[in-house]
Amino acid sequence: MTLPGHPYFSFVGSELHAEGCSLRDLAQRFQTPLYVYSRQAMLAALCPYQSALQGRAHLICYAVKANSNLSVLKVFAEAGCGFDIVSGGELERVLAAGGDPAKVVFSGVGKTRAEMRQAIEAGVRCFNVESIAELDVLSEVAVSIGRRAPVSLRVNPDVDPKTHPYISTGLKGNKFGIAHAQALEAYLHASRLPGLEVAGIDCHIGSQITETDPYLDALDRVLDLVEAIEAAGIPIHHLDLGGGLGITYADETPPSADALIGLLLQRLQSRGHAHRELLFEPGRSLVGNAGVLVTEVLFLKPSEQKNFCIVDAAMNDLLRPALYEAHMGIVNCKEATTAPALTWDIVGPVCESGDWLGRERQVAVQPGDLLAVMSAGAYGMSMASNYNSRGKPAEVLVDGQSAQLVRRRETTQELFAHEKPE
Ligand code: LLP
Repeated sequence: MTLPGHPYFSFVGSELHAEGCSLRDLAQRFQTPLYVYSRQAMLAALCPYQSALQGRAHLICYAVKANSNLSVLKVFAEAGCGFDIVSGGELERVLAAGGDPAKVVFSGVGKTRAEMRQAIEAGVRCFNVESIAELDVLSEVAVSIGRRAPVSLRVNPDVDPKTHPYISTGLKGNKFGIAHAQALEAYLHASRLPGLEVAGIDCHIGSQITETDPYLDALDRVLDLVEAIEAAGIPIHHLDLGGGLGITYADETPPSADALIGLLLQRLQSRGHAHRELLFEPGRSLVGNAGVLVTEVLFLKPSEQKNFCIVDAAMNDLLRPALYEAHMGIVNCKEATTAPALTWDIVGPVCESGDWLGRERQVAVQPGDLLAVMSAGAYGMSMASNYNSRGKPAEVLVDGQSAQLVRRRETTQELFAHEKPE
């Protein structure tokens, strides 16, 4: 039986599998907490993007921050993707995974001079620039090494993506992008700087977006600007529409990538912009539902007010519930034969009341059971920390019947290897 919304995770007999691998076997081999990713699920998520854009100039730049494991990056590099990066560290990861720097776009509000130089030297495709001050510095850095940096300006279209405030980025009050009203002036400024070459325009309005209207509104606002900028004599080659497409964690019903892109293409056509090259920067929608976090139940602590199910994964391993009160599905890796008797708060060992993975969940549990936190492929391991001196989880990539350890568990010695008691 496949889990709804998770076609690559299914019960075979009574055991939850990732593709052809039992999560219990993987937990025995690699211990818990353990991130398990399905290669086929990632490729299946990429497919609707590729098919909707087939036959037209485009580049799908996987947003590295969603999951930056080298093996995950390699899956997307081999599938022909480019990458959206936000640091020199992410650039190094992309190169180490065999990614093509000519397909890399560099986003982020606070690039350092060293990162700018590193990215120009690597030959990235484009800098998504977020302020006028950044334009000046980037031009200076490029001139100092005798190069011109390709730029697109990230404009803030001031549309409401209707998502969690911490992951909304396209509203006036956000720190991201150049205000719509300032964008033309910023382009004129960029076109006069000696170290820059205007290549395109960019916007990214937020994350976990489950409706199409915010995208269409943002596209309209961006096209208004493109028309004004080109009328001022600055050609705009590509449109980068960012990432942000949501996934189903519980009962959300986001549009599929091909449905969304179909609508965007129609709008481009009707406004006479069908010829433009399109870039997208999807993260979550490519990897979110391709991963689970497997954790073992340590203790049950029923009480008068609340029943706590204490597991060996914590907020340091998976921060989303603590940080955004995000709902993540949680299932027992062994299909229950009895109805759940109690409602549990699934919590970790970290010393914070905010350390929870799920609240008020009806799930049948016993100490020693394995639980799978679903939809944990995006912003799970990439946001993990060592809080409470906990080593980060191991990561496994499954492909059919085979499972590769793609990051081994950290040892305690590694956690303090850079320190010395003085
Ligand atoms: N492009 C830019 C410029 C971004 O800032 C982001 C995400 C993306 C692309 C990819 O967005 P996606 O397709 O993954 O929605 N930690 C949060 C999400 C933060 C998103 C930050 N920017 C979470 O766990 O929900």
